[in-house]
Amino acid sequence: MAFDVPFIRPIFPAAEDLAADVTEIVRSNWFTNFGPKEQRFRAGIADYLGSDLEVVTFNNATTALVASLSQLLKDEPPGGLVIVPSFTFAAGPQAIRWAGHHPLFIDIDESSLQPSLGAARAAWDRYGKKIVGVLLCNTFGIGGELIDEWETFAAERGVPLIIDSAAGFGSLYPDGTNVGTRGDCEIFSFHATKPFAIGEGGAVVTRDVRLAEVLRSFSNFGFEAADGAVRAGLNGKLQEINAAIGVRQLLTIDDVIRERRQVLQRYGEIFSYADAGEIVRNADKSSVCFAPVMLRDAESRDPLLSGLRAAGIEARVYYAPPVHRHASFEHDLCTGRLELTEAVSTRILCLPVFQGMPESVFDRVVTLVDQHC
Ligand SMILES: Cc1ncc(COP(=O)(O)O)c(C=O)c1O
Repeated sequence: MAFDVPFIRPIFPAAEDLAADVTEIVRSNWFTNFGPKEQRFRAGIADYLGSDLEVVTFNNATTALVASLSQLLKDEPPGGLVIVPSFTFAAGPQAIRWAGHHPLFIDIDESSLQPSLGAARAAWDRYGKKIVGVLLCNTFGIGGELIDEWETFAAERGVPLIIDSAAGFGSLYPDGTNVGTRGDCEIFSFHATKPFAIGEGGAVVTRDVRLAEVLRSFSNFGFEAADGAVRAGLNGKLQEINAAIGVRQLLTIDDVIRERRQVLQRYGEIFSYADAGEIVRNADKSSVCFAPVMLRDAESRDPLLSGLRAAGIEARVYYAPPVHRHASFEHDLCTGRLELTEAVSTRILCLPVFQGMPESVFDRVVTLVDQHC
């Protein structure tokens, strides 16, 4: 079904600009393998996020997650448990498996939708000796408000804290610091569906210079200088054309985020005026991948979702089903019954956000909220 208002409308640099980049790349005859565009893009990401940061680019965030988990857990015997929320995208739990371990799903905090620290403590009490790491998620790219406490949790237990911030390039933590600067490392996706989009691409950001070197080597078959493969690795390199798009997208990201936050605010006003629900906490400090609304009444979710879609507005529901309900993960361990994860997945509604959103969308949403909530 074609929607009049699609869930995502990626905005890319102008075709003429991309043509100029392709011409440059073809003339340089350097298409991949850490070429000049990749070098510029990598430096641009580091500049954007702040000082003392190392950036390693990847062909997507899933590879970046596999690389980070594999390297930070390389001394652990296979088959360990990695704490991860079920209320996330399947890429993280899949990456845990590729790194040789198993996801240990935990519940979320009901009001922020971020992974629950209480649930992580309960997981530790029950499975402590088998737990080898934490894959925290900045859900929907929103910086979690308990990031300090999570760092302490991991440090006190001597396990790495890897943060999946896939949609969060340009987001701020509630204390005003940039998402991308915490834990052992943070991972971004630059997929076409993200607010900062280059087609396919990803990055790991870390303060650990050695980790960055090793991850770069991992992305290049585990090669190091002339010694050949000295560690596990794969081909995770970012191509020059995607890096060139990234260099251009960095020029406009602040304006893009400003506009996306305005759209989020408009939706927030509509739902709060109708007393129908509210925008998920701290989403206003994020780069706003979409507008997540927690409805007051779970009963109104499906009629409103259908009403919006019938009216040409491609609303969606994330994350439903949560990952522990996916067939491939149904035998993995959960800490408790993940009741909040289950409950939230029946109350959440995600609305489209993109630049140049027509004003008429908000009018249509007002009418449908009045009708169904
Ligand atoms: C939370 C999360 N992690 C990881 C990924 C994977 O990103 P990529 O498509 O760049 O591999 C996504 C993609 O949507 C995501 O939402």
